[in-house]
This record gives sequence, structure tokens and C-alpha cells, in this order.
Amino acid sequence: MCAQDDFRAQRSQLVELLVSGSLEGFESVLDWLLSWDVLSWEDYEGLSLLGQPVSHLARRLLDTIWNKGAWGCERLTAAVREARADSQPPKLPGCWDPHSPHPARDLQSHRPAIVRRLYNHVEGVLDLTQARGFISRYECDEIRRPIFTSSQRARRLLDLATVKANGLAAFLLQCVQELPVPLALPFEDATCKKYMSKLRTTVLAQSRFLSTYDGTENLCLEEIYTENVLEIRMEVATGGPPQQSPMTLSLEELFSTCGQLNEDADTVLVVGEVGSGKSTLLQRLHLLWALGRAFQEFLFIFPFSCRQLQCLVKPLSLRTLLFEHCCWPDLGQQDIFQVLLDHPERILLTFDGFDEFRFRFTDRECHCCPTTPTSVQSLLFNLLQGNLLKNARKLLTSRPDAVSASLRKHVCTELSLKGFSEEGIELYLRKRHREPGVANGLIRLLRATSALHGLCHLPVFSWMVSKCHQELLLQGGGSPKTTTDMYLLILQHFLLRASPPDSAAHGLGPGLLRSRLPTLLHLGHLALWGLGMCCYVFSAKQLQAAQVNSEDISLGFLVHAKRVMPGSTAPLEFLHITFQCFFAAFYLALSADTLPSSLRHLFGGHQPSSALLARVLPKLCVQGSGCKEGSVAALLQEAEPHNLQITAVFLAGLLSQEHRGLLAECQVSEKVLLQRQACARWCLARSLHKHFRSIPPAVPGEVKSMHAMPGFIWLVRSLYEMQEERLAREAVRRLDVGHLKLTFCSVGPAECAALAFVLRHLRQPVALQLDHNSVGDVGVEQLLPCLSVCKALYLRDNNITDRGICKLVEHALLCEQLQKLALFNNKLTDGCAHSMAKLLACKQNFLALRLGNNHITAAGAEVLAQGLRANVSLQFLGFWGNKVGDKGAQALAEALGDHQSLRWLSLVGNNIGSVGAQALALMLEKNVTLEELCLEENHVQDEGVCSLARGLKRNSSLKVLKLSNNHITSLGAEALLQALEKNDTILEVWLRGNTFSPEEIEKLSHRDTRLLL
Ligand SMILES: Nc1ncnc2c1ncn2[C@@H]1O[C@H](COP(=O)(O)OP(=O)(O)OP(=O)(O)O)[C@@H](O)[C@H]1O
Ligand SMILES: [Mg+2]
Repeated sequence: MCAQDDFRAQRSQLVELLVSGSLEGFESVLDWLLSWDVLSWEDYEGLSLLGQPVSHLARRLLDTIWNKGAWGCERLTAAVREARADSQPPKLPGCWDPHSPHPARDLQSHRPAIVRRLYNHVEGVLDLTQARGFISRYECDEIRRPIFTSSQRARRLLDLATVKANGLAAFLLQCVQELPVPLALPFEDATCKKYMSKLRTTVLAQSRFLSTYDGTENLCLEEIYTENVLEIRMEVATGGPPQQSPMTLSLEELFSTCGQLNEDADTVLVVGEVGSGKSTLLQRLHLLWALGRAFQEFLFIFPFSCRQLQCLVKPLSLRTLLFEHCCWPDLGQQDIFQVLLDHPERILLTFDGFDEFRFRFTDRECHCCPTTPTSVQSLLFNLLQGNLLKNARKLLTSRPDAVSASLRKHVCTELSLKGFSEEGIELYLRKRHREPGVANGLIRLLRATSALHGLCHLPVFSWMVSKCHQELLLQGGGSPKTTTDMYLLILQHFLLRASPPDSAAHGLGPGLLRSRLPTLLHLGHLALWGLGMCCYVFSAKQLQAAQVNSEDISLGFLVHAKRVMPGSTAPLEFLHITFQCFFAAFYLALSADTLPSSLRHLFGGHQPSSALLARVLPKLCVQGSGCKEGSVAALLQEAEPHNLQITAVFLAGLLSQEHRGLLAECQVSEKVLLQRQACARWCLARSLHKHFRSIPPAVPGEVKSMHAMPGFIWLVRSLYEMQEERLAREAVRRLDVGHLKLTFCSVGPAECAALAFVLRHLRQPVALQLDHNSVGDVGVEQLLPCLSVCKALYLRDNNITDRGICKLVEHALLCEQLQKLALFNNKLTDGCAHSMAKLLACKQNFLALRLGNNHITAAGAEVLAQGLRANVSLQFLGFWGNKVGDKGAQALAEALGDHQSLRWLSLVGNNIGSVGAQALALMLEKNVTLEELCLEENHVQDEGVCSLARGLKRNSSLKVLKLSNNHITSLGAEALLQALEKNDTILEVWLRGNTFSPEEIEKLSHRDTRLLL
């Protein structure tokens, strides 16, 4: 019985063990159980159903075994142990009588050894059995289905022998006896070892140096890599208890939480904004593996880049993909491929930049044969789904826009890459600049220039800041504010480096720009053409066609692509996709063949009629809407929306008042530039108005609410780049919403700056909801300019600390309209309590403060209580999931005794015991406004409840008292019932999850229906 009890207690661990390897591991457990007669043939058949997730099968196996009693349970544990040992070099003796009178029985009782012996030779044995007429061609094909590994084929053959009474079993017993005994695991084989070593060397060579470097520096990834913030993306439950903060992971833990979304999927997805460090993260992973420092569970890692994969136009098989496009085995290709197919769980395939793969994900076309050629997209999609190489891990990175719901169905875990934390930025700069003074100078500069600081959360900006450190530190002048400023600065850096030394003094003057204009236009043309063709790596032929010559290349913006297909010359790519977009924007701003009307494809993509455009912009030469192939408009129409958005931001910046002068000096007529600017402005305004017009009217009784559509943030960012107050004012003139929702929109500090720039011109106050973004302290600072038009600010899950909140409160004190702050799930501690207290004491129209799931203790609650005493307006106060304890509850209770307005107080999950409850009871005796008191998840116990019951007897305002999960027994309930007899204001008392027996629940609920049990 004892073994059975253990078995039950360990059920979930057993399921995990059974599922953890692969179907292969599960089937070898079945082999052992069959061989020991623990499983009958019928049991076995019920457990080897094709197409069922392993987890279901594992659970079913446990149920079957449980029914067999203690003996069965013991044997299962032994089978798991044996199956695990199976992956070590074999020690199975495999001695059976080849002329046994009971061949079918012997096949079963020696099954583990026979499978092991057969697996390397299954193809030959299959041919033989078919030739001898033991199995039909159809049966043979069934066993050879491409989804089966060799061991699975061996098992299917044995299964057939068990049910066929034609001598197949006897034939197999003899045949297998003659096969050589495998000496070691296939990985120990010399050819395989050689291949593994070649693969490691190849991956090491590709990952040693940082991909973004321009030939003037040699950055070792090891020396420069800085930890990037990686969070698990949770499904946000609607209703139910609030969730904990998103979990952050270190890179090494990347595969530790698989199975969050879909248990049976093998693909881990890392999503991050452009330049957030996805490629670098993968590179780091490859390096750690190749150096033997992490991820050693994988014996093979095959890195791929989607931008390069999509260039493969000829059909190819999985085998070709791995061998010809990653690492070629010099010997024994067939055997090595077989090892890969047989041990998928030891393989990791990484695919970088799914957003740059021009084919949209679909799971409609199924391809599962590893040796049959198919299109590259079918290969990739079937790998991701697990139709090919099931159980091999796949790691995919992408920008958010390219992740569709149908892709998510095949993902086991989704992680978001957030970029550098504030400490990360500083660490990175210190790693880049070992010279004393430079890093400190840059850090000081960033702290003083919060717009630039905000940009640096994206590693690509940190890289640029350190690249231009001399310009930034020495040349003084205004620091870059917008993204375009920063890219122009780096352009200047590259141009100066390629110019005679004396030109350095003049900065990015028109002279410098003009002298290199042909080069910039060549690069711009190539960039735009690439965007339109979804092409991001360029062959020599393509460079020639775009007239990019060696001088253009020497400027440094084009670099050799990292992962080169063996045997080919390294193609070139832009330093980073943002540079490709920047050059494309440059071309759009300066080239003679840009029609202003084609710009409409950039800002919102809608199609105003030519007549309308001509009316609005009469001086423009608007041509027919048909686009010539290869024309600017046609290219813009074909480009990926997220690249267009980045390009639009740059174009807006380049056409801004501030930079237009610079461009005008480059030979383009002022008039043309003005026309392009007018068109950009007009299209921007139109797109925004269209956005606003699509907002549905308000639900009766509620304020009109707008949930930002994708693209809204980019329009706002483009407006910000233009830096024109008038345009921003005009843009939001028609926005009449009461609630602006921008949850899960990847809003970081840079987006906050843009939002504030635009929203501060709103005419009516708005509730701004920015939950689940990456605002952070720097973002909070960026939001301050629009705080005065906010009546509520929701910042749930935004990585905000005391520093950010103290700044916010300082400003909030001056903002008459602001009445609500929601800061659930941030990083607040007692350090912000003084600020909060001040807010409550000084702002006598403030209504709601929600501080749930932060780190506030009794000390913070005591400080906050002082503010509460002086406050006469607050109605909602939320402390869910802090640690105020009894002392904090006492302080708050004392402050609330005479409070005149508070209606709702939540102290859920705050470690409050009977002492705190007693203080709250006294508060209830005096307080006349509180309507709802939430005390779930504490340990109030009967003693506390009795006090609360006393308080209730004298209270006439409370309507709902929530006491679920508080270790209360019927004694406490009895006290409550007595109090309820004297209190008819109370409508509900929640008591679920306490210690009542079913009978007590039954009885109590009949005594007073207001008790919710
Ligand atoms: N963890 C890191 N440590 C140091 N530098 C980094 C890190 N991550 C990124 N960088 C720097 O930022 C640059 C841009 O990062 P990366 O190319 O990895 O971004 P990405 O997310 O792949 O962008 P894209 O969306 O364009 O593919 C890198 O070339 C590198 O210089
Ligand atoms: Mg990348």
C-alpha cells in the first residue's frame, strides 16, 4: 500500500519524468513494462495511440498502473529508472533462444534489448521481412512513415510480429540475434563526435564577435555582453485574483519553464522590439553552448537567420537545410542524419528574426518527411509545429508584429525581451569604455538628458551612444532628443571618420553631407529597394544593380552578414535594420524620384484619392495611382508594415523644421522639401483622424474609450520626430475620449516621450491606461509633460521604482485634474511612502490610490497613514499583496476612524492577524463611509473575526466584508451571525476557503444568506 501512496503523492513528478524526454523515452518505459508483464497487450495498445500528446498518454499509463496495485507501482518506478539508464551506454545482455518455442512471448520479454539491437538496422530488416513475405508492402510503408524514429520503427515491427501468426516473430528472433551488439551510444561514434566538434567550432566562430560592428572595432561578445531583461509573457486572466509580476529569467533559464502555453509544443518564442537585443541574445546562447558553459543538454545546435533562409529559392529537405546550410558532415552523412532523427531531444534549432521572413506563418501545409525537398517556408513552418523533428527544441525570435495567433498555437513558452535596465545601460557603457572618465561622462549625460536616456533602454541606442561618445561628450551643443537626431549623429560619426582629418571640426555641416550625397543616395536606394523586396542581405549582384560601389561600402554602414552559407561569399547587410530604414527615409527625403503622393504609404497606408490630394495640396504634382513596378510607391506598398513604421519615423524627423535646413543645403530645392513635408504632415493628420473616427461611441453611463490600434503609437512617434507643437495640437484637436487605453503596446520611455508631446495638447482630461508596458522610471519622467491633462494614470506592471514615483508625485501635486493613480505590480517600497502621504495630504480632490503587489511594509503604511489623516477626498485605497502586517493595519485603521470619504479598502494578502483585525474593528465602530473592506488571504482567524463582528454591530456603512481564506472556523462564523442580526446594511460577508466542514457550510448558509461560503 505504501508504494501506492508514494505513487499517488508523486504523480505530478512522475508525469513530468515521463514527458520530459520525448515520446521515445515514454515508449522505452513501455518496453520495460511489457517485458515484465506489468502491461498486458491490451493495456499497451491503449497506450500507444498515435497523435495523442505524450502528457495524456503518461497520465493514462499512471491510471492503468495504479489499478494494478502496489506491485505495478513499484515496477513503473523501476521502468522509469531503466529507461533513463538506457540513454547511457547499453548493458543489455540480450540473450534469448533464437529457436524458442514461444517466439512472440520472447520478443516481448526481451523487448528493450531487441529494440536497442534492431534500431540501427531496422531498414535492412524491414526489407528482408518484406522480401521473405512476412509483411506486405503496405505494412512496410506504414512502419516507414517519416514521422517515426528508428526505434519507433523497430517497435512497430515487433508489434506487428506479436499479432501476426505467420512466423514473423520467430524470424525476427533469429534475425536480431545475428545483428551486432551496439557497443556505445551513437554519439560516441567517431564520425558523430567529429561532426559534433565541427559544429561547435563553426558556431563558436560565428558567435565570438558582436554582429554589429563596422570593421573599426573588434568587439568580443564575451567582453561586451550585458544582461538583457527577459520576462515570461503570461496570459492575462480576466477576473480572478490579480497576478504576480511577470517573472524575469536569466538567459540560462530560457528553457526551464517550457510548457507554459502549450505542453506539447517544442518552440520557445522570444519577442522584442527592433534593436532590443534578440539577435545578440541568440548569439550569446550559441557562444555559451559552443564554449561548453551552458545548454549542454543539447549536443547539436543549428543556428539560422530568417533573413538568410528566405533567400533559398530551391526546394530543400531538412537534411539539406542542416547539412548544406549550417554544418556539413565530412564523413558518414547518412549515419549522422540518422542519429539526428533518432535523438531529436538533443537538438536545438534557432531561427533569428522571424519578422524578416517574408512568408506568413501557416499551419495548413503538412510536411513530415525529413528527406523530401520542399520550400524553405514549408520546412520552417513544419519544424516550428513539430511535424519535422518533433521533440527537437526550436527557439524563434521575432518583433511583436510578426507573431500571429496561429503561430502562438505552436509555442510552448513566450518570452519578451525588454532591453537594458537602467543598471544595464550603465554596466554596458562601463564595459564599452574602460578609459576613466568616458563612461562616467556618458552616464552623467544620460541622467541629465532623459529623452536620450529613454532611448538607451534599447541596446541598439546604447551602442550608438557609445559609438558617438566623442561627439556627445566633446562637441557640446544640444544633446540628441529624437531618434532621428541620434541617427544623424551617428551618420556624422561615420562620415567624419571617412573624411580628411580637418573636416572634423565642422560637424555634420551641409558641406560634409553634400560631398557624400551620391554615396548616401546609393545606400538609400539599396535600403529602400531591400525594404520593398523584403530583402535584408545583399549579394554582389544586387549591390551592383543598386550602383553601390566599394567606396559606398567603405563608409561602414554595410557589413558582412554573419552566418554565411558554406561555400558562398559573405553577402552584405546593413549594420542593423534601423539603419536600412534610416537610409530608406533619407532617400525618400532627398531623391529626385520620390513623388510626394507616394509618402502616403508610409503614414498609415490609406489611399486618399489623387483628386483629394490634389485639392488639399494643389501645387503637388499628383500622378495616377497605378504604381510602376520598382517605383518608390510600389516598393513602399510591398514593404513590411513594421519597417515602414520605422522609416516613417525617420522621414518625419528628416523633414522636421530642425533638419530640413540641413537637407536643403544638399542640392534639393526648398520647394520640393516643403512639398514632401506638407504631404507627410497631411498624411499623418489624416491617419490620426481616421483612427479617432473609428472609436465607437461611449457605452451609456461610461466615458468614451479608445483602445489604441496597432500603428497609433507609430503615428504619435512620427509626430514627435517632427517636433512641431502646432502639428501635435492640431492632431489631437478632434480626439474626444475620456479613456485612452494603451495596454500591451510595448510602450517604453521613447514612446512615453512621444505620447506626452502629443497628448498634452488634449482639450479634455483623459484617463491614460498604460498597463503592461515597459514605462520604467525614465518613462515616467517622460510622461510628466502630459500629467496635467490626465485625470487618471494606470501604470500596472511597468517596472517603476520609488524614484520614478516620487518624481511623478512631485508633479501630480500641481496637476489639478489628476485624481487616480494605479500602480499595481511595480517595484515600490516604503521609500515612496512619504511622497504618497504628501499626495494624500495635499491633494484634496484625489480619489483613488492603488498600490497592490508592491513591497510596502508596516513602516510605509505608518507613514502613509499620516497622509490619510489629513485627507478628505480619497475613496479607494488598494494595498493587495503588500506586507503591512498587523502594525501597518493598525496605523491605517487609526487614520481611517474619522475619515470622511473612503469607500473601499483592500488589505488582501498582507499578513494581517487578529491584532490588525482588532484595530480594523475599532475603525468600523467609528467610520461612517467605508462600504467595502477586503481582507482575504490573511490570518485573521476566529479571534480577529470576533473583533470584527463587534465592530459590525456598531457600523452602519459597510456593505461588503471579504474574509475568504483566513483560517476561520464555525466559532468565528457564529460571532458574525450574531452581528448580522443587528446589522442590516451589510449585504455580503465572504467566507470561502475557511475551515468549515461541508455540513457546517450547509447549515451556516441557511442561517443567513448574506454569508457567502
Ligand atoms: N545584451 C547585449 N549586450 C551588449 N550589447 C547588446 C546586447 N544586445 C544588443 N546589443 C547591441 O545592440 C545592437 C542591436 O541588437 P540586436 O541586433 O541584437 O537587436 P535585435 O533585437 O536583434 O534587432 P532587430 O529587431 O533589428 O532584429 C547589437 O548589435 C549590439 O551592439
Ligand atoms: Mg535581430
